[in-house]
Amino acid sequence: MALSTSDVLLLLLGFFFPPLAAVIKRGCRADFVINCALTILGHVPGIIHAWYLVIKYPSIPEYATLPTHHDGHLRASGDHVVVVSSPSPAQPPAPASGSRQPLTSHDDPPPSYSSIAPASLFSADLISKTVSDQLPEHYTMRPLRKNDFAKGVLDCLAQLTVVGTISRQQFEDTFDQMARQGCSHIVVVEDCERNQVVACGTLVLEQKLIRECGKIGHIEDIVVSSTERGKRLGLYMIQQLKHIAEQIGCYKVILNCSEKNVYFYEKCGLTLKDVQMTEYFSK
Ligand SMILES: CC(C)(COP(=O)(O)OP(=O)(O)OC[C@H]1O[C@@H](n2cnc3c(N)ncnc32)[C@H](O)[C@@H]1OP(=O)(O)O)[C@@H](O)C(=O)NCCC(=O)NCCS
Repeated sequence: MALSTSDVLLLLLGFFFPPLAAVIKRGCRADFVINCALTILGHVPGIIHAWYLVIKYPSIPEYATLPTHHDGHLRASGDHVVVVSSPSPAQPPAPASGSRQPLTSHDDPPPSYSSIAPASLFSADLISKTVSDQLPEHYTMRPLRKNDFAKGVLDCLAQLTVVGTISRQQFEDTFDQMARQGCSHIVVVEDCERNQVVACGTLVLEQKLIRECGKIGHIEDIVVSSTERGKRLGLYMIQQLKHIAEQIGCYKVILNCSEKNVYFYEKCGLTLKDVQMTEYFSK
């Protein structure tokens, strides 16, 4: 995975002042304390730990635009907001080195995405192997790819809400736009025996000013094909999206759902909190 300029500078800083690199990358949390201890024990362990932190938590790309309005699929009154804080509700967000830089408006793909195969929506490095290893045999979990159009990703999504008629060209153009913006992390589960997408879920990153320019992750559009339900694919999908959220520096994830799905999300470790309000606009 290619490192951003800020991470290369942090590696350099980590060589001379490991705790400084650790605190810039991870904030005043356990990693910083561990790094101080390792540096006191001997400079080299401190350097190795600081480098490990920089590589494990790469800076996220800057975003050309941020989503102003997510197309929530469950916005009827009575819907709830379910929230989980990650890694800890009491802690401020991790001040990842990319988080305080100004938003940019360039159209080129963000630098951190330069190593991605063009057909993949985001870096597969963000996918937790621990989570995907739990899938049944012949199933794989990965970022959305352009050829998922042919693997039925829209049919899968149509089991959640109205998808409408989308041509391959529209699909690919939207895919390219999302890849450029870098906020949408669409994960799919594929049944590799049938070459079919059988589950889909999205994590949308929102950059904030509050909480020291923190980031939150919106979990959206979770669906498992009707014939595949009850195999824990939904649970693994949520685990995967939570993992990605943590990797890209979110301090919590949040989602909207109907009351009937509250139990499912609680099984996934989320907690019911607050209520949702909405207003629909006529086209
Ligand atoms: C909700 C959904 C994603 C769950 O996927 P799934 O793969 O069938 O769920 P899992 O097998 O991972 O279930 C995990 C746990 O949640 C429970 N659960 C699953 N679906 C549930 C539901 N709709 N309501 C309540 N509990 C549910 C399961 O019983 C299981 O609990 P257990 O450990 O006590 O047995 C799937 O049913 C679906 O796609 N539904 C239609 C679309 C939808 O409503 N999406 C959510 C939008 S917010």
